[in-house]
Amino acid sequence: MNILITGSNGQLGNELKKRTALLPNANFLFTDVDELNITKKEDVDDFFKKNPIDVVVNCAAYTAVDKAETEQNQALAINYQAVLNLAEACSKYNSFLIQISTDYVFDGRGCKPYQEIDAVDPMSFYGISKLSGEQAVRTLEKGVIIRTSWLYSNFGHNFVFTMRKLGQSQTTVNVVADQVGTPTFAGHLAEAIWKIIPQLSDWKEGVQIYHFSNEGVCSWYDFAKEIMERSKLKKCRVVPIESKDYPTPAKRPFYSVLNKAKIKKRFGLAIPHWKDALLEMLKDVK
Ligand SMILES: NC(=O)c1ccc[n+]([C@@H]2O[C@H](COP(=O)([O-])OP(=O)(O)OC[C@H]3O[C@@H](n4cnc5c(N)ncnc54)[C@H](OP(=O)(O)O)[C@@H]3O)[C@@H](O)[C@H]2O)c1
Repeated sequence: MNILITGSNGQLGNELKKRTALLPNANFLFTDVDELNITKKEDVDDFFKKNPIDVVVNCAAYTAVDKAETEQNQALAINYQAVLNLAEACSKYNSFLIQISTDYVFDGRGCKPYQEIDAVDPMSFYGISKLSGEQAVRTLEKGVIIRTSWLYSNFGHNFVFTMRKLGQSQTTVNVVADQVGTPTFAGHLAEAIWKIIPQLSDWKEGVQIYHFSNEGVCSWYDFAKEIMERSKLKKCRVVPIESKDYPTPAKRPFYSVLNKAKIKKRFGLAIPHWKDALLEMLKDVK
């Protein structure tokens, strides 16, 4: 089986690379923008022509949520048009597309974990561009969209590294306590993806959306407190604040907990709690 991973220098891509032993019979093509710029339709088609691809895991994305408010064309080029390019190539060369999406497609006014069938209404341009990417996948006869939330990993920039840095240099840090969701260790999402792929042969389910995050619920404040405690940075006090006191260019949902029942049942996944996931990530931090 030949698996193409796009945007593989990012958080999820690197965690997938780390776990290729989970699929010992697969052949992996890890690419990022230098090897395959997915916004270039002809390059995408050329790549598929030269390399037989069974499954594509699209980890490439424009992920700068606040910047996306002003860089709308760039966000759309990567999160929508490029996904359309991949979808067209997958349709032409009979490849299976796995697209990663986000909890930010929801407006956050819910109060119980969001199911895949719940109405979407993004509050930010990033959310709009990712939802457009989902729509690009839905033009296909087969595919999987995995929405995830609050992704962090041992690679790149993320909330865990930001908090650890602040915890080492400051005595207090203000963190919003009225946005509730679930952090996701990209290592666990990567494991799930490698477990899902062997179950895609003879797929007759069209395009399906699934939700994946770690288990449990917390606010960014709870998450920050846990990061400080587990990183032994207890001298830095985490102060809960309201979103209105931390204005950002992009609006974020107040509630974006994802219901994972569908993905767990369909693919037989057991998902760790976010606190255990954080511990697992931190044990690899130097
Ligand atoms: N991060 C989160 O909190 C979060 C939450 C929910 C969902 N998600 C979704 O999860 C997925 C993975 O996120 P992540 O955090 O792993 O993202 P990431 O770390 O930002 O990685 C994205 C990768 O895509 C590359 N890329 C950008 N434009 C490209 C292009 N035109 N062609 C090929 N590669 C390109 C980036 O390269 P450059 O760095 O050089 O631009 C980067 O290496 C994304 O779909 C994201 O929307 C993320």
